[in-house]
Amino acid sequence: MLLKFLGHSCFSLSIGATSLIIDPYLNENPQAVIKAGEIKTDWVLVTHGHHDHMGDAVEIAKRNNATIITITEIARYCEARGAKTHAMYIGGKHDFGGFKIKLTLALHGSSIGTDPIEYLGQPCGFLIFTEGKTIYFAGDTGIFGDMELIGRLHPIDLVILPIGDNFTMGPEDALEAVKLIKPAHVIPTHYNTWDIIAQDPRVFKNEVEKETGIPVTILSPGDTFSIDS
Ligand code: NI
Ligand code: MN
Repeated sequence: MLLKFLGHSCFSLSIGATSLIIDPYLNENPQAVIKAGEIKTDWVLVTHGHHDHMGDAVEIAKRNNATIITITEIARYCEARGAKTHAMYIGGKHDFGGFKIKLTLALHGSSIGTDPIEYLGQPCGFLIFTEGKTIYFAGDTGIFGDMELIGRLHPIDLVILPIGDNFTMGPEDALEAVKLIKPAHVIPTHYNTWDIIAQDPRVFKNEVEKETGIPVTILSPGDTFSIDS
């Protein structure tokens, strides 16, 4: 199974011949190393409605005849724009054949547009269960105590956590989140896209590894990370 970081908070995951893309913000993403028009995928996962996550989801889904897996309100929004969707809600799990997905709580907002702002339900995180591994994409979120419960119910092989601060937890809270979740491995995300979320991920890596002994891998846009089964 191969994870690829596409910039900001966008990742793709290849499970055998199946491809997923998560939070496909590409065409307007200053970090992106690929345009939405080049993406080939079977599934599109969207954590919440903010433009830096929903991004190019509808365009990518329609061109690939892929299905968008997301919160009910976002699913309805994307359906109305011609995309295939699979609606879920927090706490629910579904077997998609080859992988299962469960939606988690995320402490954040979920809206699109400016005048008027359209609210798109609750934001979420994703647990992906596949090839005997559990990957937790926390999405945009602040720290919350139930991260401990998530880690206890589903031992996490890899967590992808935001560290940018301002819009999500910063590095100090992300360190505490790692202590709650107790994953086997950590990848930081949602930083350095803009000045307001500038962080040195090496400081986060050093702190986490020193305090918890859990390895942290820093990915640059375009980098891949192999998850062994
Ligand atoms: Ni957001
Ligand atoms: Mn965001």
